[in-house]
Amino acid sequence: MTQSPGQGQALDNLLTESRTFPPSAEFAAQANARPELYEEAKADREAFWAKQAERLHWETKWDQVLDWSNAPFAKWFVGGKLNVAYNCVDRHVESGHGDQVAIHWEGEPGDSRAITYAELQREVSKAANALASLGIGAEDRVAIYMPMIPEAIFAMLACARVGALHNVVFGGFSAEALRTRIQDSACRLVITTDGQYRRGTPAPLKPAVDEAVAGAPSVEKVLVVKRTDTEVAWTDKDVWWHELVDSQPDQHTPEAFDSEHPLFILYTSGTTGKPKGILHTSGGYLTQTSYTHHNVFDLKPDTDVYWCTADIGWVTGHSYIVYGPLSNRVTQVVYEGTPNTPHEGRHWEIVQKYGVSIYYTAPTLIRTFMKWGADIPAKYDLSSLRVLGSVGEPINPEAWIWYRENVGGGKAPIVDTWWQTETGAIMISPLPGVVSTKPGSAQRPLPGIGAKVVNDEGVEVEHGGGGYLVLDEPWPSMLRGIWGDEERYRDTYWSRFGEQGFYFAGDGAKYDDDGDIWLLGRVDDVMNVSGHRISTTEVESALVSHPTVAEAAVVGASDATTGQGIVAFVILRGGAGDDAGGAEAIKALRDHVAKEIGPIAKPRQIMVVPELPKTRSGKIMRRLLRDVAENRAVGDVTTLADSSVMDLISAGLQSDK
Ligand code: WT7
Repeated sequence: MTQSPGQGQALDNLLTESRTFPPSAEFAAQANARPELYEEAKADREAFWAKQAERLHWETKWDQVLDWSNAPFAKWFVGGKLNVAYNCVDRHVESGHGDQVAIHWEGEPGDSRAITYAELQREVSKAANALASLGIGAEDRVAIYMPMIPEAIFAMLACARVGALHNVVFGGFSAEALRTRIQDSACRLVITTDGQYRRGTPAPLKPAVDEAVAGAPSVEKVLVVKRTDTEVAWTDKDVWWHELVDSQPDQHTPEAFDSEHPLFILYTSGTTGKPKGILHTSGGYLTQTSYTHHNVFDLKPDTDVYWCTADIGWVTGHSYIVYGPLSNRVTQVVYEGTPNTPHEGRHWEIVQKYGVSIYYTAPTLIRTFMKWGADIPAKYDLSSLRVLGSVGEPINPEAWIWYRENVGGGKAPIVDTWWQTETGAIMISPLPGVVSTKPGSAQRPLPGIGAKVVNDEGVEVEHGGGGYLVLDEPWPSMLRGIWGDEERYRDTYWSRFGEQGFYFAGDGAKYDDDGDIWLLGRVDDVMNVSGHRISTTEVESALVSHPTVAEAAVVGASDATTGQGIVAFVILRGGAGDDAGGAEAIKALRDHVAKEIGPIAKPRQIMVVPELPKTRSGKIMRRLLRDVAENRAVGDVTTLADSSVMDLISAGLQSDK
């Protein structure tokens, strides 16, 4: 395998990296994507999407492709009816592929399980019957708080099958975060496990559910999968999965639901403290996840082994582990654990074991692999890999090249896919086999998608210019709103460029001289830590809810591995933090944030300060705090109410660095 050049040299070269990588003739000849797709979509966008929708089985065909008359609330494939789970499972069994492995599941402690489509059909049917026996049906909300075990996927598909909305909450979130997400959407059922494996040791999970449910009166039952055999407290709401689900009939007749029937809610961070429940519906969502998965990853269902390393707690897991791949009859790997358990070659060992051919991960993990060293992937046979994907944050050219050389054997095309929880599916990405890839750029909107870079006034910028990324055409998998908050939906996404009718993504972007799009990170108060979205306000609220904190300001500071790291500036109440360097107070605060939100939101660094920089109208100037957090000279302070504040901060910094 080709090795990348020495680190220092690589850095110098890559600051000016401008190579492009044209597809090989061999890859292009077999690619699912064709160059004509761009033209076809441009000629008639709606006809193009209608054609993509035919990838699915519709019980009743739609009579209108798009109804945008009530913008920004879209309706796609109006009048159509389908069952999403049937499309992901049963139809593959009916077409004679029941014996094909759908999921090669790999547990963290080394246990594994191969699940065929026929088996998946039985498991999902049993789970759907179990939901029905608990009175769960169309439009009910079900929270799923589980590690990456097969039952999590069965549970999602069972919800889809009976028309209930799942609300998956990442297993790393705290009881409090779980409670607010259950309560906001009034979930009637929670599906969870006794515990989960974390870096080789079982950790309890159910106690967090017990705590959340105690404060969430809508919950009637809690369905518990036994995973770690951890002893758990039992309440009268609790039901064991193995008792209820395993005793159900393994056949279930799916009902066809309206194309706009809600499929799921997924909470994501916004610029305020309260997470937004992003709502997705059925027909359009499944059409676009299926279409993008087929074309962007070039999936060949008979020969490929696909692996997306995301967790189902995030939208990537929803769209590119569950719905897109399964609707395309994938054979995929699902891995429960962390990449360095029990050793730093775990991912490559799995690639070798299953002959993974398509691998989709996040830049933060690629940079972590770089840190661990190229000698680790070099020990394994990775020659099966033929397409590599990246998602979650901008990928720096150096990591891109490292990925190509050390994982992709110097030849696998890399697809840098830009999208969001709100967009539901990939929006901007090169098409492998069609587009020459370019390290660091997500390049161009997919056929059927309208995206551009505009200035403050909403006018498209010239090639070479920068501004904001907007989406200027409705798309099938777009969010249909924020659960219970129509106003917030309009305000957040549609008011910034309301006149032009553009969806404002919240990302800065630029065009290069070829007109390719480069994403530049969020322009709002949302941080991106290891590809996870965390709002500054959410962390600030958690900090000020601690009795020792008088005021707090949080910024995302650039971080070589995680993209951004959370840096907090706090003013402590009189007396608190007087111990040596305030170390104890700081530790207590980090733990408190983990308890309020989850360990992923723990600040990398907390600085105790006497004052915070504010404008005359009382707004915290995060820009100046970011200068401090990133060890830069502090910028222009003339708009501060008290310009000496920054000197005070710099002089008296106590930090836990
Ligand atoms: C935000 C959305 C989409 C699944 C994972 C994150 C950033 C995402 C890229 C990329 C540059 C990216 C954006 C976006 N982002 N992919 N390929 N290049 N930035 O979903 O939590 O909804 O976050 O992630 O800032 O707005 P999410």
